[in-house]
Amino acid sequence: MRQPLVMGNWKLNGSKTMVHELITALKAPAEAASRVAVAVCPPVLFLGEAQQVLADSSIQLGAQDADIHTQGAFTGENSPAMYQEFDVCYVLVGHSERRTLHGETDAQVAAKFAAVQDAGLIPVLCIGETLEQFEAEQTRAVVERQLQAIISHSGVQALANAVIAYEPVWAIGTGKTATPEIAQQVHADIRAFLARQDDNVAAAVQILYGGSVKGASAAGLFAMPDIDGALVGGAALQADEFAAIITAAA
Ligand code: G3P
Repeated sequence: MRQPLVMGNWKLNGSKTMVHELITALKAPAEAASRVAVAVCPPVLFLGEAQQVLADSSIQLGAQDADIHTQGAFTGENSPAMYQEFDVCYVLVGHSERRTLHGETDAQVAAKFAAVQDAGLIPVLCIGETLEQFEAEQTRAVVERQLQAIISHSGVQALANAVIAYEPVWAIGTGKTATPEIAQQVHADIRAFLARQDDNVAAAVQILYGGSVKGASAAGLFAMPDIDGALVGGAALQADEFAAIITAAA
């Protein structure tokens, strides 16, 4: 049985005050939903502040990206190894905003995935198609290509210590949530693709849905057999909305 996982991707939002106020407001609902794993991913500048506020909570800390070098002459980079000092557990890799705005390739995402695992952290591999690809019925081909890049680099077993987040780009930040049926079909396709390489990995890996998840839409998504939780953007910045999503996963 896969544990439900609800993650908040704050993107480029936050302040020291917000870190304290938002995380504090989430502690009680997270504790009440004891079977649900909860994580928040603030901007990297606030990881230290978040670590302090989370000291007495089961809520885990995540980072939104990582570079591949652990230390050295790499000005401006963020080392996955150094994230350990902030009790970071998860690291998003390959988010569509990194792939589109920063030109991150499948190969670069695969290298980041491996670097995060080498640092003993759990990569959250973000995959998903654009609206054009969705309309051209290329969704399955796109997500399989993105998954294969990881498997070719690290092997299918590497996904046993990772999380997958399916985020249709056309649903991110648009208010257009994929219907539970559409999301379930892609999640099932992802699991079937992995099962053709390793049954155990396919059965165990958590596959989250991301893309305009709100408190009102969460329960319908989580009712689907292959949707194991959510990677939440905008709604993660509102304590009541994010708490409702956590509660819906319980
Ligand atoms: O990583 C989660 C994010 O891409 C989804 O954003 O605002 O559509 O929930 P949002």
